[in-house]
Amino acid sequence: MAILKILQYPDERLHKVAGKVERVNEATRKLVRNMAETMYSAPGVGLAATQVDVHEQIIVVDVSEAHNQLKVFINPEVIASSGEEECEEGCLSVPGIYEKVRRAEKVTVRALDEKGEPFTLEADGFLAVCIQHEIDHLRGKVFVEYLSQLKQTRIRAKLKKRQRETL
Ligand code: NI
Repeated sequence: MAILKILQYPDERLHKVAGKVERVNEATRKLVRNMAETMYSAPGVGLAATQVDVHEQIIVVDVSEAHNQLKVFINPEVIASSGEEECEEGCLSVPGIYEKVRRAEKVTVRALDEKGEPFTLEADGFLAVCIQHEIDHLRGKVFVEYLSQLKQTRIRAKLKKRQRETL
């Protein structure tokens, strides 16, 4: 397994739109294992392939405290959603920034698992938030894009400054 490099906002590659995985094979499973290891070591609760500069529709999520409930979604699609809630979010690609985002409270997601088998999952609470946040990444959308232009400008400036300082 390997720890992958996570792209940092405002990297343009975070805005690429991921393509569908045509065939779930050993290479897909290897990427999934590396993404999970990268997420756990960060540590984080979710990671999209987009964030490691692989533009395929794959996300991993684990919101459990013991880090033993990995969920893998390949070609995920929200097929139903309801309610609304606001939750403070962070992102491994936007370190140190936490902001409230309004999203659906419940979602039903259809996807393939790492064996290529289709499944449907109903999620609510924090899991629902994470799934929506990660699916956004696959569409090239970072959570800060839900904020006002002023906030986005400030966040970009802050992160660019920090990236320069750590070079
Ligand atoms: Ni994120």
